[in-house]
Amino acid sequence: MTSTARKGQAPDRNIAIDLVRVTEAAALAAARWMGRGDKESADQAAVDAMRLMLDTVDMDGIVVIGEGEKDEAPMLFNGERIGNGQPPAVDVAVDPIDGTTLTAKGQNGALAVVALAERGTMFDPGPCVYMEKIAAGEEARGVLDLDAPIAENLKRLGRAKKTSVDDLTVLVLDRPRHDGIVDQVREAGARIRFIPDGDVEGAIAAAREGSGVDLYVGTGGTPEGVIAACAMKCLGGELQGRLSPRSDEERDAAVQGGYDVDSILTADDLVAGNDVFFAATGITDGDLLRGIRYRGESAVTTSIVMRSRSGTVRLMDAYHRLERLAQYSQIDY
Ligand code: FBP
Repeated sequence: MTSTARKGQAPDRNIAIDLVRVTEAAALAAARWMGRGDKESADQAAVDAMRLMLDTVDMDGIVVIGEGEKDEAPMLFNGERIGNGQPPAVDVAVDPIDGTTLTAKGQNGALAVVALAERGTMFDPGPCVYMEKIAAGEEARGVLDLDAPIAENLKRLGRAKKTSVDDLTVLVLDRPRHDGIVDQVREAGARIRFIPDGDVEGAIAAAREGSGVDLYVGTGGTPEGVIAACAMKCLGGELQGRLSPRSDEERDAAVQGGYDVDSILTADDLVAGNDVFFAATGITDGDLLRGIRYRGESAVTTSIVMRSRSGTVRLMDAYHRLERLAQYSQIDY
């Protein structure tokens, strides 16, 4: 090492490596329900496995983004303490299954997800169930603008990616509320990929080179928006959002609760921490990850594990020996 070598901090623990065990467990439990038409049972299995594994992680966690309020599904509650109570103190976002219907129907794109950030740094969605979102990769930083027309965003993104608008692919949740967006994308000349559900994977795909997706746009869950923002902080991508109340009552409740429903929220507004950890495991096949493969006595999981401070992105395959796990695990895989 030369005298000009930088003296940094000693390497510290990357909690995301512990978190991947949590998402693997949730995905392994959920994937048994693939295609069985029972999203409640799939979600329950994922929640139970996730809760059990979260308590093995060295952390003093509070669930800020809990799953399930929109669908009254089984959930890890907002405010619930998780982890073994040891430092660090962290905010936790969980989505045991993003894509419960995808899992129940055996369709592509369902993930188990957990993200962590320093205590007090995650946006609490309160009564705001939905959020407008726009997201893309690193080239889109300082380029996207949620307030600008879609055509303008596509023009700027094309310029940043050195490609023409008709080469760009936009990912959109297939919902009637997006008809206007779809018309604008088509008019601008870009291609569209519709997904039935699962916009966490959608937003991440837009930020990952080689996914075949350049831009994610549309209105989806606010919790999913915060989770996607955690992923963007790790990937260096761009995400903007705006709360989207479903009714005047929801808008009034949000405003009374101190939420600004008109302003654009950046990824930093949605998760202000500088040490964000993210792990996700595929339940069904998707653009980002493969779903669970069961083979006799074993199962294979595919996960993505990321940390914002280092910017390291790991893709991890794990081979699980189910007969050995069955000897001591409380989870029935
Ligand atoms: P669930 O897995 O909780 O059902 O969420 C799936 C999802 O597609 C999210 O990815 C997305 O943000 C949200 O639902 C969209 O909401 P809606 O289905 O009400 O349009």
